[in-house]
Amino acid sequence: MNLDLSERRILVTGAAQGLGLGIARRLVSAGARVAMADVAPAVAERAAESAMGSRAVAIVKDLADPDAAEVVFQAGRHEFKSFDGLVNCAGWSFHKPVAQVRLQEFDRLVAINQRAPFFLSQKFAAQLTDSDRDPCIINIASVNAVAGNTNLVAYAGTKGALVAMTRAFAVEFAPRIRVAAISPGAVLTHFTEQMIQSGQIDPPAMMERFLIRRFTTVEEIAELVAFLFGPAAGCITGSNWMFDGGYSAQ
Ligand SMILES: NC(=O)c1ccc[n+]([C@@H]2O[C@H](COP(=O)([O-])OP(=O)(O)OC[C@H]3O[C@@H](n4cnc5c(N)ncnc54)[C@H](O)[C@@H]3O)[C@@H](O)[C@H]2O)c1
Repeated sequence: MNLDLSERRILVTGAAQGLGLGIARRLVSAGARVAMADVAPAVAERAAESAMGSRAVAIVKDLADPDAAEVVFQAGRHEFKSFDGLVNCAGWSFHKPVAQVRLQEFDRLVAINQRAPFFLSQKFAAQLTDSDRDPCIINIASVNAVAGNTNLVAYAGTKGALVAMTRAFAVEFAPRIRVAAISPGAVLTHFTEQMIQSGQIDPPAMMERFLIRRFTTVEEIAELVAFLFGPAAGCITGSNWMFDGGYSAQ
């Protein structure tokens, strides 16, 4: 898709690897300037990749910290006057039966997957200037927001909350800010590779449950994110884009 996002300045969380990195790369290739936030220091190397030109900067911060949103936006302000785009992509998960979930890990999950997107969106709205055109927030949720799976109850709760917040933010921030969610099914990233290696995912058995019997690619999701920041998406807000190979259609 031939998109010109050269006016855009976008903060992408979880951008050291996987979907966040793919999204940051795609946005930069469309001309956007991007701040890449992640807890992993490797995000600095990714932002310095030659393909990023001088259009990307890194911000290293644990989004589970209570001051995360404040720190990330303050760091971003050194480089960008303001952001007109936010992609809440950073996410964490564990696979375990309900009986084994500990309070601390539950709280960390909520802090990363739900609390951080809330307060980042709050700060995003507060720092907008009159000259920011078509500000837009994209939340990366999950098929688990709408479909139940064993060993993922706590994770599903955070992603369901993110989809519910997407709708509510879209209403509260209208008409100034558009807000949309994307709910991937299974994308082959570090996240899924770890689960395959530990035996938590059996790819052939898993693919039986997808109408399109393959993993979604990072590039496919990144393309939708770029589209949602573009001029053709100006009337899209409050929606949750299922990108799940038909998993939730059954
Ligand atoms: N991969 C999939 O199949 C899939 C499916 C549905 C939803 N998702 C969602 O997509 C998003 C990205 O997933 P991915 O597959 O790229 O995962 P990934 O593990 O490859 O990447 C996640 C990134 O988030 C960062 N991160 C994690 N905790 C953080 C924290 N506390 N502070 C800052 N950064 C933190 C990690 O360092 C990493 O760079 C997540 O929100 C995930 O829930 C992924």
